[in-house]
Amino acid sequence: MKVVTIVGARPQFVKAAAVSRAIRRAARSTIREVIVHTGQHYDKALSASFFQDLQLARPAHNLEAGSGSATAQVSRMMARMERVVIQEAPDIVMTYGDTNSTLAGALVAAQVGLPSAHVEAGLRSHRLDMPEEINRLVADRLATLLFAPSEIAVENLEREGIREGVVRTGDVMRDVLDWRLGKLGDTRLVPAQFSVSEREYAVATVHRAGNTDDPDRLGAIFRALDRLSTHVPVIVPLHPRTRHALHHGRWSGDLRILDPLPYGQMIGLVRHARIVLTDSGGLQKEACWLGVPCVTLRSETEWLETVETGWNVLADVDPEAIVEAALREPPTTPCDLYGDGHAAERVVSVLTAWSGP
Ligand code: UD1
Repeated sequence: MKVVTIVGARPQFVKAAAVSRAIRRAARSTIREVIVHTGQHYDKALSASFFQDLQLARPAHNLEAGSGSATAQVSRMMARMERVVIQEAPDIVMTYGDTNSTLAGALVAAQVGLPSAHVEAGLRSHRLDMPEEINRLVADRLATLLFAPSEIAVENLEREGIREGVVRTGDVMRDVLDWRLGKLGDTRLVPAQFSVSEREYAVATVHRAGNTDDPDRLGAIFRALDRLSTHVPVIVPLHPRTRHALHHGRWSGDLRILDPLPYGQMIGLVRHARIVLTDSGGLQKEACWLGVPCVTLRSETEWLETVETGWNVLADVDPEAIVEAALREPPTTPCDLYGDGHAAERVVSVLTAWSGP
């Protein structure tokens, strides 16, 4: 069986690494994988460093789609991807998550008449003004195989009339976290590399278009981070899109803006933080798994269970709510959500047993 894997943005390198590794490790795997990089993320810190850190095979094709409006970006990806997919003639196209690369992959597979499989199916924010929600809806509607990370995700699909091909696997990001942590050794040494002490610092990330492209929201977030940084140092590995949007650079507290970190270093740093503040989907779960309370800089989340367990608080961009949530006491029960770290193996066994649409 031949699989074409479409990736292009940072979180997809993480998710695809889990499945790719499970394909290589499966004892009776008959799957051959060809990785196609759309080029959506092209900075070394967002792309090459992740391939290296996660031991992901070099892409066989890079479409070099680059930046631009969603329409321009997706249409460039699609035109170039169509040629590659026809040339590779896979049995199935794999897409991951909810980025513009996911959308391009799902549409191209459908247009050329190939089945697609969607990893991280069924997540919903119920907000059609988010590009990610549009991308998820399309990818799920067009997919033949839908790998859902949670029961809520399965129920979301059911409500949309999608039942066939849905498999609850757990979250492949958990697999990657377990594997990478296992290789990191003693992560207690990581905070010192950033001149901070265990449990006495915050880690924050901001990159969603809904936050970065709205100066009022971005201003409010950084006012809150600055205020928090008068209590604890706040380390902010910043996405290039946010750096472009952020003009203000004078802070009253200890706010440290850095380039994005490689995956291993990031999870090592997060593991010993007092608090995580983020608008990323992946980091909400990683914080929870690592036993670090999270403040989500949005008004809603696709990962509702993290809020129900108390590990995550939705503070949106209200500076007071953000600082208060950041300084709260953590829950006492461990976060045990989204599977057992073997989600990718389930994906691979479903693919192996699959006999076509
Ligand atoms: C994308 C995903 C988002 C995901 C995020 C992870 C979509 C709609 N959004 O957002 O769901 O959580 O990736 O990082 O697909 N840029 C660079 N260098 C790069 C890549 C981007 O400077 O390597 C800048 C460019 O100015 C670009 C902007 O960031 O215009 C936005 O990039 P884009 O890839 O469109 O979306 P992300 O914000 O990264």
